[in-house]
Amino acid sequence: MDKNFYITTPIYYPSAKPHMGHAYSSIIADFFARFKKIDGFDVFFLTGTDEHGLKIQRAAEAKGIPTLEFCDEISKTFKDLSKILNLTNTDFIRTTEDRHKKSVQSLWNQLKENEDIYLSKYSGWYSISDEAFYSEEEIEEFEGNKRSISSKSAVEWVDEESFFFKLSKWEKPLLEYYKKNPNFISPESRKNEVINFVKSGLKDLSVSRKSFSWGIKVPNNKEHVIYVWLDALTNYISALNYPNKDNDLYKKFWPASIHLIGKDILRFHAIYWPAFLMAAKIPLPKRIYGHGWILSGEEKMSKSKGNILDPIEIIDKYGLDPLRYYLIKEVSFGNDGNISKEKLEDCINSDLANNFGNLCQRVTAFATKNCGGKIPDKINFDKEDLRLLNKFKSNLNLIRDKIDNQDINYYISFIVNTLFETNKYFNDQEPWKKKDQMTRLNTIVYTTLEIVRKISFMLYPIIPESSLKALKIFNISENEINFSSLENHEYLKKGISINSIDILFKKIEKIND
Ligand code: ME8
Ligand code: MG
Repeated sequence: MDKNFYITTPIYYPSAKPHMGHAYSSIIADFFARFKKIDGFDVFFLTGTDEHGLKIQRAAEAKGIPTLEFCDEISKTFKDLSKILNLTNTDFIRTTEDRHKKSVQSLWNQLKENEDIYLSKYSGWYSISDEAFYSEEEIEEFEGNKRSISSKSAVEWVDEESFFFKLSKWEKPLLEYYKKNPNFISPESRKNEVINFVKSGLKDLSVSRKSFSWGIKVPNNKEHVIYVWLDALTNYISALNYPNKDNDLYKKFWPASIHLIGKDILRFHAIYWPAFLMAAKIPLPKRIYGHGWILSGEEKMSKSKGNILDPIEIIDKYGLDPLRYYLIKEVSFGNDGNISKEKLEDCINSDLANNFGNLCQRVTAFATKNCGGKIPDKINFDKEDLRLLNKFKSNLNLIRDKIDNQDINYYISFIVNTLFETNKYFNDQEPWKKKDQMTRLNTIVYTTLEIVRKISFMLYPIIPESSLKALKIFNISENEINFSSLENHEYLKKGISINSIDILFKKIEKIND
């Protein structure tokens, strides 16, 4: 089996500093990357910034700063955020880097050579905010101006010479591809949107602009810069050293396992990108997943709407892991979701502090007092113990399968339910009343510790820092975390000392106002 896993986030526009929506995609991608890593995969996890085009040029002009300098500054805030979010990204790509420019120009030449690019003239609507062309049917009149119906962003009329990509030629092959690969576009509801759009007929796509210069030059042409989406999408292969297809990164990691994106940019990823790749005879990524939006009230949170929430403020107040936990659990994956401080505080108090943190404290304190501070030695599992322990063993492949289908909700419910059951088990078994049946007492403690160990492994992709803190109980370090080991009921070495740990999550006092 192919034990390589390549996951990407969108490369974000550094037109303004990152907000919670960007943090969301990155954290979800990190969840998958970490899960695959502990499941024995070689992981390449890419994120970065998308720095060309009119949107960025205008943002820099508005600040009166040279464009590259502007990009350097804001790209750095995205790079810093990836550290703050504790992302395990392997690389951070900027489209202003030479390695990327070379790659884009080479892809262009390939498309040209295969006769998929021709020169003509574009007249139509363009949204700078979306960097997208819209047809008459896709725009509406609003307060005397034209705007995109789907994104509500303003459009302007463009009338200029342009190179075109023969997108129409790929309409049928795309539809065939979607049919043959029913999981290519996920979730299902999004797939239908894409298919309907393609079925309604694809027009050739304008892929160069002449009226501004902030972009990658069309090879052997002084006037045109390459359309920012053709430029941006190529990042996924330029990070693997395309056009050099003989290098290890490319050979190992292309085609990508999954491009994780927001549903706002599905069309680019599920139509344009596969068409470019087909035209260049490059294999297609295995999956495009378009997740939902973080809303602000009823609307999509976005810098152009000015309704953003700064992830750093939330992290300063509540800590990183609670935010990661909240985004992964409470925003039902695939759907839109809101961030509410109230619900975040509930997560901290009930799931993290009560359900997980408390179990860790309770069992270690009990073992310190009653088992000499060691992993109990003499044990003998009964039906109840095995029922709990077996939950992992018998669900391991199912969990893997759910993850491969981006069913995060299943993963997290498994954890929450198991924690709940384990707390109940510890209560019901009343080990404090078993001091005259030491084997039974030991077995209850061992079983509970094993589950703390297993659940901490499973929590690692979600709340890595807290998971590692909990694993200090057993002196287990990061590189020892291994998903397959959840099969093992007796992973913990008997007789080894355990450590007491600091409180994992402080409860938030709720003030009623
Ligand atoms: O579109 N909720 O960049 P961008 C959830 N440069 N996710 C959100 C979000 C929200 N409210 N707002 C943003 C671009 N995102 C292009 C991408 S890729 C080759 C080029 C996340 O800065 C989500 O992943 O507008 C969305 O697709 C992406 O940020 C858009 O970021
Ligand atoms: Mg956007």
